[in-house]
Amino acid sequence: MHVAVKDKTTRHHIGYGKVILFGEHFVVYGAESIVAGINEYTTCEISRLKHKPNVVEVIDERPAVPGYIKEKREEQRVAHGLVLRHLNIDTSKDGLLVKLGGPLVPSSGIGASASDVVSLSRALNELYSLNLSEEAVNRSAYAGECGYHGTPSGVDNTAATYGGIILFRRALKKSVFSRLALGKTLSIIVCSTGITASTTKVVADVARLKAAQPSWFDDLFEQYNACVREAKKALQSGNLRRVGELMNINHTLCQKLTVSCPELDAIATCCRTFGALGAKMSGTGRGGLVVALAANTQERDRIAKAVREQCKEAKFVWRYSVQPGGSKL
Ligand code: MEV
Repeated sequence: MHVAVKDKTTRHHIGYGKVILFGEHFVVYGAESIVAGINEYTTCEISRLKHKPNVVEVIDERPAVPGYIKEKREEQRVAHGLVLRHLNIDTSKDGLLVKLGGPLVPSSGIGASASDVVSLSRALNELYSLNLSEEAVNRSAYAGECGYHGTPSGVDNTAATYGGIILFRRALKKSVFSRLALGKTLSIIVCSTGITASTTKVVADVARLKAAQPSWFDDLFEQYNACVREAKKALQSGNLRRVGELMNINHTLCQKLTVSCPELDAIATCCRTFGALGAKMSGTGRGGLVVALAANTQERDRIAKAVREQCKEAKFVWRYSVQPGGSKL
């Protein structure tokens, strides 16, 4: 039973966007991944729809890439329903009006679904005075991510909840994560193919390949583990050149896993040609994003401009900084 239910939230509640620096797909099978919350986020406000039982209306004002919101609408409906169920929210008397916004541009790979369900969980927390801890917000968002992802590792909702740079692993159905101390601020360029991929479908394809060819998968998995072990050290010591090389290696492993695509490969090559220290696909793949690392902010801005002007596969190009800090775990 909820004690103090408000008519509407009094402020914006947020969930961060993210980029996976190392380990998409391998993380689903228990490998360690490295993920960075970025400094853009989704916001959520909620008001109660008096006497509109079981109605959950969503006004989605996020500045998404074309087609994204429509394509994800059904998954979003399921995801929101799962969050409401997880938090035992009763809409049988009054419905809810959920308003999403904020600066994060939803596109495949940027953790938009996770930032949606994190911001929703936080807003419900205020509306129904649930007194959720950060960990409980993260668990609620994980429940929602099952609507978007099928079998999520939990890396996206963890990054969307806490921000900053995180080492993440799924072990015995639990999320194990810690902060990674960065030796240097990361200046990154994120390029979108503009193609929205279904995480559920791509993750299921990898599962099928793994089941059909277990030793092939084990070999790639071992190569990935060696890559992320080194990446951790390089990030901690601030050896950006080595981080870049390892991002390139991770991209090749994603290609072998069949989750890259010609557009992602072309953008990664372009970023390297224009001087990025390394570039890889990030997130689900088969569309979505490339993340490229620059030596510093000036280099980042120069490379972003060149990619924007000369790489036709890059439909959107964003610049971010990943700081050593972040909220406390
Ligand atoms: C999606 O952002 C990352 C994947 O590894 C899926 C997951 O970890 O749940 C593809």
